[in-house]
Amino acid sequence: MSSATAPNLIAAVSQERQWDRLMQLARLGAIPGDGVNRPCLTPLDREARRLLIGWAEAIGLSVSVDPIGNLFLRHEGTDPAAAPVMTGSHMDTQPAGGRFDGIWGVVAGLEAVQAIRESGVRTTRSIEIVAWTNEEGGRFAPGCMGSMAWSGHSPADTWDAVTDNDGVTFRDALAEHRAAESDLAQRPLGPVEGGPKPYAYLEAHIEQGPRLEAEGLDIGVVSGIQGSRWFLVELRGESAHAGTAPLGMRRDAVQDMIRAVTALNALMADPEDILRFTVARIEVEPNTSNSVAEVVRFTIDFRHPDKEVLILNGDAIENTIRSAVKNCDVTVTERFHAVPVDFDTVVQDAVEDAARAQGLRSVRMPSGAFHDAQFMVPVCPTGMVFVPSHKGISHNPAEYSSPEQLAAGARVLAAALATLAG
Ligand code: GLV
Ligand code: MN
Ligand code: MN
Ligand code: MN
Repeated sequence: MSSATAPNLIAAVSQERQWDRLMQLARLGAIPGDGVNRPCLTPLDREARRLLIGWAEAIGLSVSVDPIGNLFLRHEGTDPAAAPVMTGSHMDTQPAGGRFDGIWGVVAGLEAVQAIRESGVRTTRSIEIVAWTNEEGGRFAPGCMGSMAWSGHSPADTWDAVTDNDGVTFRDALAEHRAAESDLAQRPLGPVEGGPKPYAYLEAHIEQGPRLEAEGLDIGVVSGIQGSRWFLVELRGESAHAGTAPLGMRRDAVQDMIRAVTALNALMADPEDILRFTVARIEVEPNTSNSVAEVVRFTIDFRHPDKEVLILNGDAIENTIRSAVKNCDVTVTERFHAVPVDFDTVVQDAVEDAARAQGLRSVRMPSGAFHDAQFMVPVCPTGMVFVPSHKGISHNPAEYSSPEQLAAGARVLAAALATLAG
């Protein structure tokens, strides 16, 4: 019998332990409606990491951190020199996030490794559980900084000058964070600093969409991730008195924003409803009712599974805005570009086989959300496993997956990791 179907391993995954850990972590940053607000590189983030580290050390995993704050928990294989299998996700949340996005992938990785150790399954390869820094991009934009730096997609100093809402730079927040974790073992920044390339990477995550629940399925075998591009647009006009300045003389940044977004809606219209286009964060200065707005900054989140559409429509954004606005100076900055990826069939097969062996119903499906796994694709064979999200709700305090669904996901993860780690 292969380790992937070993009954001891499956039985060693504890639904109660995993759920209890998730609920303990959910208290750190709890907000009304069962939500969590735990921004990256904050004292709350560090408290959550220490809780996780305590559980990992209690079962004999070794702990280390890298220069961008990625956290690693290592289970030693029988051949410590062999390239490790990696699993994990992120521990930061959206400002009004739920209890499962990201954190479940980390807790499930720990549950899977604990089950492997407790059931006596021996893996040749080591297994490393990673918590990537700033996946959400909620405090510092964009997301996925930890995995982008680790994989060599972008230099680690790319985001030094990015600020949060309080004007704190990413560089300063990271420096403070690293000082607070200087007692932990330090390791290089992955393959870009000469660390080993993993043998494979498998990330567990809640689906964040409605499909699995609607189709009565247990497991999503993720086939790939659509592409995403993020832009920051600044429109700069002139402030004026709302009671006196004639409309024809104004350089009103809010009115130009409305023109720009209307034109972008036309550019992004998609009768097939595949394209995703979101304007969700808007800053206005001076932000008072009786002064004409001088500056508006707004974000664009644009996604599509087809690389050509991503390039064509994404590259048309700036000119569409410039043609639409009447009075303002325009600056468009691209802050994130994740190309669509296909996952490796070997990893997909390992997940699908594990689900089938456990009598679970699965489907191969693409991901609409981006994930750190997107940046692992050029580095090593990569895949993901999804569990259902109730009503597909996510990035919302009401996000929910049941203890049973999450346990099924952890069992599939445990079996697939055991297969990959040999
Ligand atoms: C990640 O949180 C995403 O926006 O897809
Ligand atoms: Mn996530
Ligand atoms: Mn998220
Ligand atoms: Mn995400």
